[in-house]
Amino acid sequence: MPARPSYYERHVFFCLNRRDDGAACCCDHDAEGMFEYAKKQVKKLGMNGKGKVRVNRAGCFDRCDEGPLLVVYPEAIWYTFVDKEDIDEIIESHLKQGKVVERLQV
Ligand code: FES
Repeated sequence: MPARPSYYERHVFFCLNRRDDGAACCCDHDAEGMFEYAKKQVKKLGMNGKGKVRVNRAGCFDRCDEGPLLVVYPEAIWYTFVDKEDIDEIIESHLKQGKVVERLQV
């Protein structure tokens, strides 16, 4: 039986876990703000929806010391990011052209 095509071409998950006990967490690094920015940009560029890109929130990936983190499927590429420019580069390079942004990979 042939494999079904993916519902989304690329599916992006942001860790938005917050810890209140002082331990490292992605929300210490504005993960929530970058998630909202990524969603907005993907929509603005007309890249969101079936057969295209979906940006979702996720819980802890258990790599907290390396955060903030997002992961892009189906390639299962992990990224960290600092600012909107990093998010723009992931969108432009990986989500649009399928080219991994090696400098942000973890
Ligand atoms: S808090 Fe983000 S990986 Fe654990």
